[in-house]
Amino acid sequence: MDNVPGMTTETGQQATSAQHLRDAMVRQLIDLGAARSPRVLAAFRTVSRHLATPQVDMAKAYEAESATITKTDENGVDISSVSAPRVQAMQIEQADLAPGMTVLEIGSGGPNAAYLAEMVGDQGHVVTVDIDEDVTARAERFLAETGYDRHVTVVTADAEAGVPVHAPYDRIIVTVQAADIPPAWIHQLKDGGRLVVPLRMRGMTRSVAFVRNGERLVSDDIQLCGFVPMRGAGENRMRLAVLHEADGEEVALRLDGHPEPDVPALSAALYEPGTEVWSGVTVGGMESKDHLDLWLTTALDNLPLMAAKPAARHRGIVAAASPIGIPALVDGGSLAYRTSRRTDDPDRWELGALGHGPEGQKTAERLVEEIQAWDREHRGQQARIEVHPAGTPSDRLPSGQVVDRPHTRITISWP
Ligand SMILES: C[S@@+](CC[C@H](N)C(=O)[O-])C[C@H]1O[C@@H](n2cnc3c(N)ncnc32)[C@H](O)[C@@H]1O
Repeated sequence: MDNVPGMTTETGQQATSAQHLRDAMVRQLIDLGAARSPRVLAAFRTVSRHLATPQVDMAKAYEAESATITKTDENGVDISSVSAPRVQAMQIEQADLAPGMTVLEIGSGGPNAAYLAEMVGDQGHVVTVDIDEDVTARAERFLAETGYDRHVTVVTADAEAGVPVHAPYDRIIVTVQAADIPPAWIHQLKDGGRLVVPLRMRGMTRSVAFVRNGERLVSDDIQLCGFVPMRGAGENRMRLAVLHEADGEEVALRLDGHPEPDVPALSAALYEPGTEVWSGVTVGGMESKDHLDLWLTTALDNLPLMAAKPAARHRGIVAAASPIGIPALVDGGSLAYRTSRRTDDPDRWELGALGHGPEGQKTAERLVEEIQAWDREHRGQQARIEVHPAGTPSDRLPSGQVVDRPHTRITISWP
């Protein structure tokens, strides 16, 4: 681009140290596998993202894994942020952008729109929309300060209706968690265009890269991610079934269309000693379990994610905890959740399940059977996710798990 990003308000010394931080961030993005294309790397080397979050340390703004929360609601739920560079780079790679494209970003912040502007160049156009006027005002200030305002149009609106005035788009990148795909997003995308969206299916959110094929979307890449929840007409929050409540030690099931659990029975079961069942399947310490978990939710019907605070793990109430949640198979008053133990190889862990309640062992065995099935049949593969309009008859859907939402029928299948 012909501007010199970030130079308007920085001294020469600040600009030099920002450039060092950007270069280090780009090396981290490569190491994490989040970015590889030369044009993506160049964009991340260029944008002065720290100017969007003057409230945080400049070094923090360039940490690859660090998101900056910019707004929290009255219940303490994060509702706006500048996403972590790793997540932004991953989605931009998924979008496969080229110069001259028209792109819609849903959920604004500033830096990501600037990266998109770098990717589409002077002949391209970026539209960024946010439901929150505080956010769009902040994004506008950042884009003006860094010189990207010439290539980015900022709109304040509920993105449920897309932004028809600038459609059709070559790419739509959603940067807020969505439980459904509004028809406007499909219709405002060119046929063959790509929609990248953090889609929540049965409690699990994945950044899915879809290609539009008529009225249908078909995935070609799926990555683990976490995003703030959608607000406005598409709001669809998960409900928490709290199994254990003590200061800072909460354990809860996140319900997303799952049957109503028997909370008193499950809660009592959790306090009783559990039964471990081991699978013989091992994973590397750094190996992601996101495809396994997506397989488990395809294969098993009642598998909400169990969220537990680290303190609950330290007190021994649960044996495993993760901020994203751990799949837990529920069967009446019994439950079993995925866990792991060290093997003789210091970098490998064996997967298993810990069952609680009268049917705890059987439930753990069932979960372990599906861990073994994944290892045998699906390890190293990605699921295929398709989005069809609501009302599509079941016999016209691909085989697999179906997630019904108000606008769409989402299918998850495995090769
Ligand atoms: C993670 S932030 C966006 C981060 C941004 N893309 C960046 O530069 O990193 C998600 C944003 O989505 C916005 N949002 C939530 N619901 C929305 C809706 N229905 N329409 C448009 N924006 C929405 C929130 O206000 C929030 O600012």
